[in-house]
Amino acid sequence: MHHKKNNLYLKCGCGCIFNFTRKIRILIIVFGALNVDMIMPLSHFPSVGETLKSEHYITRSGGKGSNQAMAAVRAGAKTAIVGKVGDDAFGRRSINNLKSQSVLTTGIGISDKPTGCASIWIDSSGKNMVVVSSGANLDATEDQIPDEILLENNTVLVQMEVPCEETFMLLRRAAEQGTRTIMNASPVTVPIPDDILQLLDYLIINDLEAKQLAKLHKFKTNTLEKIAKEFAKRGQLTCIITLGDKGVLALSPREEYMIAPLDVEVVDSTGAGDCFCGVFAAALEKGYNFTSALKRAVVAAGLSCEGLGAQANMPFEEEIEENLNHISDPTKI
Ligand code: RIB
Repeated sequence: MHHKKNNLYLKCGCGCIFNFTRKIRILIIVFGALNVDMIMPLSHFPSVGETLKSEHYITRSGGKGSNQAMAAVRAGAKTAIVGKVGDDAFGRRSINNLKSQSVLTTGIGISDKPTGCASIWIDSSGKNMVVVSSGANLDATEDQIPDEILLENNTVLVQMEVPCEETFMLLRRAAEQGTRTIMNASPVTVPIPDDILQLLDYLIINDLEAKQLAKLHKFKTNTLEKIAKEFAKRGQLTCIITLGDKGVLALSPREEYMIAPLDVEVVDSTGAGDCFCGVFAAALEKGYNFTSALKRAVVAAGLSCEGLGAQANMPFEEEIEENLNHISDPTKI
């Protein structure tokens, strides 16, 4: 560890240098994927063998980790992202985009593989189909995050687009240090080990992922409320299931809440889940209680659907606040 005036320089396992001013003690650390998204709006999704024409395509920064970091920083939380990009134009673009919004990016390492890339189709109702090629994200390792920043006041926010074992190891270290842990188990590829469920504070999934995860865990039920209850019970955690235009269901071992969504004209729902996770983490980090954090995240996720592209439409704190009175508070069920 090197000290210099007010700065604290930390060298992590892969050689990246973190530079945190000592005053930064409240921080969201996102461990996750950085991609560039190639977005093609379509009239409808193609059938197998069909060729469809898209009038235009756009490229935007994406990746669940990167999107969630952007959502958190715009919602007003000091945020760092740790992951890997390739030594290429997509990687530089991803980093610069986050830097321009003050996300701490010095924990991003460089891999020999190309930067991750996602091909995203959007139909006329704003629904999407996504194929991700992970590339450099596959080389992200948990030792890129030094123990020194896994502090009690901080939050570790993870998804499942970087190697799961690395994510699980990071969560174990974070929990040992008392860091708040939030997992967005997206995309669903493997069951979540029991010890990970037990150390998680929050598990966030969408309705489709809830059913996929319940199947992998061999739950006997497939109703969303019972799935959430089962995860909450097994992990003594809070399970939040996002339901798209139906709102959000949130269950802790003791309480159950439902909250309706913000009424918006959906252009593109890509990244709405990421927005929810980033803003929820930011609200907790900023000291809001659970139901207020839920409400802020629901409002933000709605706002993020109003334009094309995931990361570009993450709302700022003021926009979230301006829209808070457009939805009701979460209700107990
Ligand atoms: O959640 C949306 C994200 O998933 C996109 O930005 C894309 O990169 C994929 O990772």
